[in-house]
Amino acid sequence: MRALVTGGAGFIGSHLVDELIAQGYTVTVLDDLSQGKKENIAHHIPGPSLHFVEGSVTDPALVESLVSEADVVYHLAAVVGVYYVLRDPLRTIYVNTVGTEVVLRAAFQHRKRALVASSSEVYGKSDALPLSENNDGVFGPPQVTRWCYALSKALDEHLALAYCKKGLEVSVVRYFNAYGPRLDPLGYGSVIARFITQALEGKPITVYGDGSQTRSFTYVSDTVQGTILAASLPQAVGNVFNIGNGRETSVLQVAQLVKEMTGSPSPIVFVPYEEAYGSNFEESLHRLPDTSKAEKLLGFKAKVPLEEGLKRTIAWFRENMR
Ligand SMILES: NC(=O)c1ccc[n+]([C@@H]2O[C@H](COP(=O)([O-])OP(=O)(O)OC[C@H]3O[C@@H](n4cnc5c(N)ncnc54)[C@H](O)[C@@H]3O)[C@@H](O)[C@H]2O)c1
Repeated sequence: MRALVTGGAGFIGSHLVDELIAQGYTVTVLDDLSQGKKENIAHHIPGPSLHFVEGSVTDPALVESLVSEADVVYHLAAVVGVYYVLRDPLRTIYVNTVGTEVVLRAAFQHRKRALVASSSEVYGKSDALPLSENNDGVFGPPQVTRWCYALSKALDEHLALAYCKKGLEVSVVRYFNAYGPRLDPLGYGSVIARFITQALEGKPITVYGDGSQTRSFTYVSDTVQGTILAASLPQAVGNVFNIGNGRETSVLQVAQLVKEMTGSPSPIVFVPYEEAYGSNFEESLHRLPDTSKAEKLLGFKAKVPLEEGLKRTIAWFRENMR
């Protein structure tokens, strides 16, 4: 089997590549290295199992030729992470919507199975916990830049479902705060990467707001497992799945755990959101997935407890931090 992974040099993408290669796939990665790093997949290069192509998902000719050679297409390439989104909202909207349309169109033309990576952000500020796939999304106004990411991902889902209606075999996964080795401190799961680097450097651990906001932190091997199941099982076609850990943890609890587990003398300090992201910023306070659909249809259940995942992630940062 041959898999195309867009965004495969990124955090989740590179772990997905590892697992697909371990399962015997030959993998092509398409990544423009705008956020991802070649180092993340360098252990497979040169090698017969991995082919790396530097380019953009917004390039229709390139995407079409790569999709035509694959059996399954994992579309993870995106502009992601508050830092990157606020820095360039236009690129965020363009890559996340046009790029997805280009990938889905090619998969449709060549009759290839496809998977689209979406996000818990599509629930926006919804407080109807736990968040189940058919819940409403609640978004702030377009003047608040951060919502362009959530809306671009919601549009990706619409695109996937619209192509599905035309006959494309596609499924969608909504990730909830994945974390693990290779996490980009500026990327989506940046809170854990930030805390660990601050703790290891002996710098203050900066909690934005009062730290009571909660997330369901999901170790990346669980995220990858849910992704592969959703892209492989016939019953997944045309469906959207929450892929996350069912344990809700506050950001302050994570900061305390990281401090304790690294044995760091760093103080935990609170930083107002305005100071971190400017005055025009909105935060969603709680994120907890209802994973019963993924459990029932895919047999998916996150397995790695937060303490174990943090242990592995801290060990990686200790070895790889410069
Ligand atoms: N990390 C999370 O917890 C999380 C949560 C929700 C959704 N997601 C989604 O999962 C996917 C992977 O996210 P990640 O956390 O690994 O982020 P990441 O930034 O590490 O990976 C994204 C990759 O896409 C690449 N990319 C960006 N623009 C591109 C373009 N135009 N053409 C080709 N490649 C391009 C980047 O270089 C990067 O390698 C994304 O679609 C993201 O929206 C992630």
